Amino acid sequence: MQNNVSAILDLFPLHSRVDNEHALITGNLSVVELVKKYGSPLYIYDHETIRSQYEEFKRAFQSSYPTTEILYASKVFLNIPFAQMLYHLGVKFDVVSFGEMSMLMASDIPLSNAYFHGNNKTEEEIKLAIKNGIDAIVIDNIEEVNLVNSISKKYGVKQKILLRVTPNIDPYTHEKTTTGLKDSKFGLSIEDHSAEDAIELIATSKNLSFVGIHAHLGSPINFVEPYQKAIDKMFTFIKFICIEKYSLNLTEFSPGGGFGVISEPGLNNPTLEDFANVISEAIRNNCEKYDIDLPKVFIEPGRSLVARSGVAVYQVGSRKTIPEIRTYLSVDGGMADNIRPTLYDAKYFALPVQGLNRKFDDLVTVSGKYCESGDYLIKDIYLPKLLRDEYIAMPMSGAYQLAMSSNYNLAYKPAVILIKDSTSKLLRKRENINDIIALDII
Ligand SMILES: Cc1ncc(COP(=O)(O)O)c(C=O)c1O
Repeated sequence: MQNNVSAILDLFPLHSRVDNEHALITGNLSVVELVKKYGSPLYIYDHETIRSQYEEFKRAFQSSYPTTEILYASKVFLNIPFAQMLYHLGVKFDVVSFGEMSMLMASDIPLSNAYFHGNNKTEEEIKLAIKNGIDAIVIDNIEEVNLVNSISKKYGVKQKILLRVTPNIDPYTHEKTTTGLKDSKFGLSIEDHSAEDAIELIATSKNLSFVGIHAHLGSPINFVEPYQKAIDKMFTFIKFICIEKYSLNLTEFSPGGGFGVISEPGLNNPTLEDFANVISEAIRNNCEKYDIDLPKVFIEPGRSLVARSGVAVYQVGSRKTIPEIRTYLSVDGGMADNIRPTLYDAKYFALPVQGLNRKFDDLVTVSGKYCESGDYLIKDIYLPKLLRDEYIAMPMSGAYQLAMSSNYNLAYKPAVILIKDSTSKLLRKRENINDIIALDII
């Protein structure tokens, strides 16, 4: 039996607490009142947690490497008010699709604030990016070199590009979210000739302006060493291939994103300072060793910027106990709004939103309401004995949940709200049947 309310509370947005009535408060607002007002399931974002985390990123990285720029990985969650809020904080964006670029444009955010990634950029996407003045395109494969060059020529621009490489460094994370090993659909290997072949082509492409190389090792990464090892390998490639063999200059460099967060009590992850120090030192050391001018650096945090700011709230429904096996406690959401536990065993925790002084002596599996046995949110957690219609809140729900949500079983995607200055406002309405049938031809 466990009652670790305060340890789990640390996973919630900043300043979350339990009030005198044993109810959960976040952003100075009662979670139970919020879910009663906006409906369940509900996704809550806390502005102060995002703002403070962005400041923390700037402080950690810019104090050890002043020209570091922070790009938010849009895939983590993006809609118009959320994009505008980040933009007003000073954040730039990494985008990977027509939809993400269009969302920025619909948010009145010029694409000059975005870098375009992706392992299979379509011609249509590249045209949209170039026509609208994307800052940089991160080239992912050799075909793209010619494609981006010819489209740039058509539009009469010399497009700024970087090359994404795979340094073949294991970041020790889930295999489904490992991206920098040689066997990856992303980027070009620096261990065989593929990255070099692309550099050779880039060097003779008149409408491309090469500024540097990029790698993203995976996500989440809970160690600093993979970054250091990857940076060492990338700089050897920069020195001997990009600079010496093809006379290309390096003015930008990116070790990607992927910074792990403390997603469970007691996890002893590196801090942002640890990541920043190791990355900055590795870049500096390599530049000194190879006599290269220090490039501008950009990092692409997604999860580590917004995961903690998000809370998912669900209402408890049925309970099924299978003696000596387990108790399933079903809630009104699940894999349609959060597929991460099903997809790659992501681990979550939860607290009831009321009655937090009760004993946490009921071992349950929190399952979803959708038609798959693999539809669960938390395997084996001690909670108080919750009754039907009570609510639970799941912290660390700000990243990759809604972004990967679906309408499976024709589920309506939940409402999303933002808490700022002790008030709440809708960022996105809960869907209804009209949203689901909107594109049907009747
Ligand atoms: C190229 C690139 N950059 C950044 C990220 C963000 O990773 P994270 O959310 O772990 O920081 C991703 C995630 O897949 C990515 O593919």
